[in-house]
Amino acid sequence: MTRILGIETSCDETSAAVLEGKGDQVAQKSLVILSQDVHRVFGGVVPEIAARAHLTSIVPVVERAIEEAGIKLDDLDAVAVTNTPGLVGALLVGVSYGKALAFSRGIPLLGIHHMEGHLFAAALEHRDAVPPFTALLISGGHTLLLDVEAWGKYRLLGATRDDAAGEAFDKVAKLLGLPYPGGRYVEQLAREGKPKRLRGSKNIEADKADIARAFQDSLIDTLVEKTWRAANAFSRQHVVLGGGVACNRTLAAAMRTRFEPEGMTVFTPSPRLATDNAAMIARAAFYRFEQGERAGLDLNAYASSPIPGLVAA
Ligand code: KG4
Ligand code: ZN
Repeated sequence: MTRILGIETSCDETSAAVLEGKGDQVAQKSLVILSQDVHRVFGGVVPEIAARAHLTSIVPVVERAIEEAGIKLDDLDAVAVTNTPGLVGALLVGVSYGKALAFSRGIPLLGIHHMEGHLFAAALEHRDAVPPFTALLISGGHTLLLDVEAWGKYRLLGATRDDAAGEAFDKVAKLLGLPYPGGRYVEQLAREGKPKRLRGSKNIEADKADIARAFQDSLIDTLVEKTWRAANAFSRQHVVLGGGVACNRTLAAAMRTRFEPEGMTVFTPSPRLATDNAAMIARAAFYRFEQGERAGLDLNAYASSPIPGLVAA
C-alpha cells in the first residue's frame, strides 16, 4: 500500500489531501480546501494576491490534511504537487513546499499536470470511471475533449480556441452583473429564462435570465454534441466529466439525456472534487508513481504545458 500527499495551489484554492491504496483501489483519507475569497472584490483572481495567500495557508492546510488522515508526515511514501498549468507565482508556492517536504523526509516528489488531476477526479467516487472512456474536461482555464484509451494515453480531440467553458461562464456572469466566479449564478439565473426567446437584446437588465439561458443552452448543445461524436468515433461506453463546469447540473442532465438511452454512462465528480482540489492531484499521482515517475528537486512551475501522455489523434 502507498500513501501519497497531494498539494494543489495552481489558482485560488490552497488544498492538500492524503490518499492511500494501490492501482485503481485508492481511498481518500483526507481533503482540505481553502478557497481564497479575497478575489471576489476584484471580480477575478489577482495573481500576486493569490501567491501571497497560498504562502500563508500552505503550512496549516497540509498539517490539517495530515491530521485528518490520522497519520504522521513519516507515514507518507511520496509528495505530489501541481506544477502546471496555472499562475506561476501560485504554483511555485506548492512546488517549493512540496520539494522541501520531499527532501526533508527523503521521499519521492512528483509533479502533476493540473488537467490530468481533473481527469482522475471522477475515479475517486466511481469505480467504473476508469479507462477506456471519453473525457470532457471543462474548467476555468481549459476545455479538453480527450479519448482516454488507458491512463496516461490520451488522444486530444478538441480544445479551447479562445475562452474555456468556465471562462465563458464567468464573462457572461460579469456582463450580467453576477458575482465571481459566476458559473453557478448563470446556471441559477438560466432556470428562470425562456428558451430561444432571444433575438438580440436591447435591454440586458430586463432580459438577464433569457440571456443566461440562451448562452448556457448553446454552450451545452455544443459540448454534448462534440462529446457524443467523440464517444461514438471510438465506440466508448463511458463518458467522464471533470473541471469546475462539471458542477453544472443542467449540463450533466443534458449529457445523461443524450447518452443513457443508448446504454452509455456519464460520470461526474461531486462539486468538491470537480472544482480544484488536491485529492485529484494525489489520485493522478498514484498512476504516475506506479509508472516509476519521479521529479527531481529541479522541478519547476509552468504557466502552460500540454497534458502528458498525448498520442497522435
Ligand atoms: O476547475 P476549476 O475549479 O478551476 C480551474 O481549473 O479553472 O473551474 C472553475 C470554473 C469557474 O469558471 C466557474 O465559474 C465554473 O468552474 N463553474 C461553473 C459552475 N460551477 C463552477 N460553471 C457553470 N456552472 C456551474 N454550476
Ligand atoms: Zn482546475
